[in-house]
Amino acid sequence: MQPHRLTMLADPSLLRSACYVNGEWVGAASGKTFAIADPATLEQIAVNPEFNTKDTQNAITAASTALRTYRKTTPRERARWLRIWHGLMMANIDDLATIITAENGKPTADARTEVAYAAGFLEWFAEEAPRIYGDTIVPSNPNHRLMTLKEPVGVCALIAPWNFPAAMITRKAGPALAAGCTVVVKAPAEAPLTALALAELAHRAGIPKGVVNVITALDNTVEVGKLLTTSPSIRKVSFTGSTAVGRLLMAQSSSTLKKLSFELGGNAPFIVFDDADLDVALAGLLACKFRISGQTCVCANRIFVQRVIYDAFVDKVVGAVRQFRIGNGFEEDVTHGPLIHERAVRKVDEHVRDAVSKGAKCVFGGKILDGLGANFYETTVLTGMDMSMKLCEEETFGPVAPFFAFDTEEEVIEMANASEVGLAGYFFSKDSSRCWRVAEALDVGMVGVNTGALSDPAAPFGGVKQSGFGREGSKYGIDEFLITKMVMTGIA
Ligand code: SIN
Repeated sequence: MQPHRLTMLADPSLLRSACYVNGEWVGAASGKTFAIADPATLEQIAVNPEFNTKDTQNAITAASTALRTYRKTTPRERARWLRIWHGLMMANIDDLATIITAENGKPTADARTEVAYAAGFLEWFAEEAPRIYGDTIVPSNPNHRLMTLKEPVGVCALIAPWNFPAAMITRKAGPALAAGCTVVVKAPAEAPLTALALAELAHRAGIPKGVVNVITALDNTVEVGKLLTTSPSIRKVSFTGSTAVGRLLMAQSSSTLKKLSFELGGNAPFIVFDDADLDVALAGLLACKFRISGQTCVCANRIFVQRVIYDAFVDKVVGAVRQFRIGNGFEEDVTHGPLIHERAVRKVDEHVRDAVSKGAKCVFGGKILDGLGANFYETTVLTGMDMSMKLCEEETFGPVAPFFAFDTEEEVIEMANASEVGLAGYFFSKDSSRCWRVAEALDVGMVGVNTGALSDPAAPFGGVKQSGFGREGSKYGIDEFLITKMVMTGIA
């Protein structure tokens, strides 16, 4: 058997098997660890510490102590640290991409794109740090003067998902550090190695000890999450993950009334009107439906195509997905990797079976690819979908493109909005009046008009309804880590 690609990093010291607390690499006090597997081969590639609440408390204490001095640093100092961290990420892009592919499975080209995207948040918030402004306000009393100060909220718990193991951390840590906060990052149990490599680079960037802490846990995830959401020392929780877990974390956080920003599940509608440029719509769909095998919160989950172009568009999609090559993300010509674990494969399969049992037609794929390994699922195209099917209600998080037919704009808006979540929505049309109408009518936090790509550090990312609240990235992202303090001065 060939040695795993992780053993061939240009800089092996990026591969860490300990947690990063108060500027040091530490194991769990219990000595317990858990194994990390490559989702393509199921090979064990690393072990990481199984932190419990006592270990986690050490990280919280480190972050609380560091806050005392870090909050007083100047925005320019913080910007410099973030810029160096960004530079180190880009200098180590190949190794970081290898680590991402090894633990997440996405093809190396996608992993490289993620590293650049992730580093982009550090650069963006390095630029935002010196641009935190308060206001002067004319108060009601003529003998008063009134101003607002923006201050860091305090110690933040950043709970990150496995699908973008680098970008979902920098999208939170970048603005937190820019604002003057310190952080405890709970790395995703499925893919913690990238988080730890980022911690190593934060260390090399000279970010003071205790400002960034990264912890890992698998079996203890629930108790660690409970401490992070109930500790009075933590003032803010930023979480990306499922709506179900978001509800639990929000309930727990209510005991200490923390500031929260939650980026939760989506069920994105993707609408193609009969006046759309079908090639542009196809490119948008391929990018947004099948990016990392459909495992993003902003993936198209329900594809609505106007009846007159339905067959033509589905044919185009089938023709395009036939060209995909599914396999191990380390292989050069592989375009789509495995799903993260068997549970994910089972959910995708269950959604496909449910749709077919209720009358949908599987026109491409529809099976687990056992020949490649336990975590691979065929790219799948379903037609004849209706709103009674599970694929309509739940986020599938897999490479399944389900097609619904519609006749009118009013009808499709109603179908698109018939979801309890509202993260992203996309539509394709050349009619500029319709573009405004539909963009305004979609009940989501983010709309792609004639594009399937929304991800950009400059763009405010976030949802409405049960997709959560708060915005990440953009000029708004830093506000999530600041409080507004008003200072009223009497001058008489
Ligand atoms: C997500 O799936 O949660 C993030 C997707 C992105 O930032 O592009």
